Amino acid sequence: MKTNFPVEEIHEGKARIIIPKLDLFKGSGETYRPRLTPVFYNPNMKLNRDLSILLANTISNMLNRGLNICEPLSGSGVRGIRYALECKVNKVILNDINPIAYQFIRHNVKLNNIENIVQVYNEDASLLLLKLANKKLKFDIIDIDPFGSPVEFIEPAFKALRNGGILCVTATDLIPLCGIKSNACERKYLGKPLRSYYCRELALRLLINMINTKALQHNILVEPLISYAYEHYIRTHLRIFRGALKANKALRMRGIIMYCLKCDFRLIIEDIIAYKERCPYCSGELMYSGPLWIGPIINRDFCMSMIHNNEELNLETKKKIGKLLNVLLEESVLPPTFYNVDHICSKIKKKPPKIRDIIRSLQKLKYEAGPTHVDPKGFKTNAPINVIIDVISRF
Ligand SMILES: C[S@@+](CC[C@H](N)C(=O)[O-])C[C@H]1O[C@@H](n2cnc3c(N)ncnc32)[C@H](O)[C@@H]1O
Ligand SMILES: [Zn+2]
Repeated sequence: MKTNFPVEEIHEGKARIIIPKLDLFKGSGETYRPRLTPVFYNPNMKLNRDLSILLANTISNMLNRGLNICEPLSGSGVRGIRYALECKVNKVILNDINPIAYQFIRHNVKLNNIENIVQVYNEDASLLLLKLANKKLKFDIIDIDPFGSPVEFIEPAFKALRNGGILCVTATDLIPLCGIKSNACERKYLGKPLRSYYCRELALRLLINMINTKALQHNILVEPLISYAYEHYIRTHLRIFRGALKANKALRMRGIIMYCLKCDFRLIIEDIIAYKERCPYCSGELMYSGPLWIGPIINRDFCMSMIHNNEELNLETKKKIGKLLNVLLEESVLPPTFYNVDHICSKIKKKPPKIRDIIRSLQKLKYEAGPTHVDPKGFKTNAPINVIIDVISRF
């Protein structure tokens, strides 16, 4: 392959990949800036890719067959090539609109000797998905990993997914989703973000609600399997089921989270229009975030299967993934939003106790309580704010 810039070979999982020489694309501060490269490869997304490989293995084990997978925004092709090499697959379709990336993907597919199962395209992702759907080619997994927001690719992906298929979605546009550019979030995700310490969990819920809103319009039920916030991005993996009656179930998963800036009180409600109250604990003015997804964002049984399979697959980030999945498992049965111990303790002028001790004390009082993967100083509970403050004050 001829290029007018230096390249290098890297190894990730079982894949060998040619990419532009990483060292040449540093921004200010000497940090590598993947967006500056002629072909996208971000080594920091390895955990994201490892988790997807684990998920695909879990799904093919469950179905006991090979999968059809489509990754319509492939960059260097690393993710799709890893699907082909590390999972049970029948067919993998890769694509990128960038003609140089297309050349690299084709080269990398050849380098890994998988031309027999991988097809490569150079099209707009939405157009490709619609064309594939039109050919009645349906996928078990569609993996959407764009620059910034995934919004424009969701509906075409629905068309190309089979009933029961999995939609994997990354969003890196946390500036709108975390409330720094609130209008952009309302436009793209149809929900109001909130600048709070738990904004990354709200971002996940705003993303899932956007996907659910589009799904409802297509009579599709979405069921989140694994969703997480990590470093600069959020990601969700949802199973889809077709049918208006099934989809009705998700109508009740949309709602609003009210939040009192003054005392940390919060309330989850389905209908914002009717809600004009002040905080019942301190009479403070209530802010809100949403509409957003207020149902579960992690499926406990599926998470356990991933934990089990993670033990069997020797992925490079196995330990990190194991740690993350175990927290997600605890979180799976806990209510939306979490409390930050430093935030509460600064209000009540108290030295912060250990999170595990707070959780244990709340559980002793018969409340549900556990950690959150979003914040090591956070905890989730269904205890009301006055009980939480009381418990923390006693340490
Ligand atoms: C974040 S990168 C993908 C990284 C890749 N999934 C991975 O795991 O390494 C996003 C890619 O989408 C491509 N892209 C952007 N808009 C596109 C579109 N409308 N259709 C197809 N590809 C597009 C870009 O050229 C870029 O390579
Ligand atoms: Zn209050």
